[in-house]
Amino acid sequence: MPGPDAEPPRHVAIIMDGNGRWAERRGLPRAAGHVAGVEAVRRVVRAAPTHGIGTLTLYAFSSDNWRRPEPEVRMLMSLLRAYLRDECAACARSGVRLRVIGRRDRLPVALAEAIEQAETATAGGDCLELRVAIDYSARDAILRAATLLRDTPPTREQFGAALAASTHAGACAPDVDLVVRTAGEQRLSDFLLWESAYAELWFTRTLWPDFGAAHLAAAVRAFERRERRYGALPGGTQPLAESA
Ligand code: FPP
Repeated sequence: MPGPDAEPPRHVAIIMDGNGRWAERRGLPRAAGHVAGVEAVRRVVRAAPTHGIGTLTLYAFSSDNWRRPEPEVRMLMSLLRAYLRDECAACARSGVRLRVIGRRDRLPVALAEAIEQAETATAGGDCLELRVAIDYSARDAILRAATLLRDTPPTREQFGAALAASTHAGACAPDVDLVVRTAGEQRLSDFLLWESAYAELWFTRTLWPDFGAAHLAAAVRAFERRERRYGALPGGTQPLAESA
């Protein structure tokens, strides 16, 4: 049972894994798994605000995913573009603000344009910030932020702001409270390494295309049972100290 003071996770980050295995188990091409994965995205985006989640970051394409076969990369790029194009109006209506984090300079022009259009069309959304990570690498983002700040030793806040700027994230999102990864894998794969410093981790064997509202609810319940101590003693949680 969650404690009486259980706070929902404000920021949930999801590593969506298992699309390929979902398709292979059905004798389908891997692309079918990615298409089914988009439906899971829709379910989770609908469910997130009902749990008090204000920011949801989805790992859609890592910078290392460029190493996949070219037809799969092309298919993923066009799926992401179609999602942004098709979902934009519904997001705007339901108060979902879309943002894409990661590099933009290596994306197909049509996808880069769809990103800008979706971000502009949904800029007024204040119910959920939906961040989709595309061509994203946390280590590269940290390196770029360090380059931006090389003349002054930054505070954690200043470094966080530089990091947001280095990934086109706009304003700084709150730290990640909960990282979810599907398909039985238990690793971070270069996702939000700075922002997840004190995140709780929740893993499930469920493949991403099978993930839905009930799984998100289970992850949130598990989060609410955790005691977050930030290095302090039980019951004596202090805010994290700013770096010197
Ligand atoms: C990992 O499964 C999944 C990806 C690399 C792509 C994620 C993309 C989507 C869910 C679809 C589009 C997303 C949005 C936000 C609209 P995998 O291919 O590595 O699966 P496997 O480990 O079973 O091979």
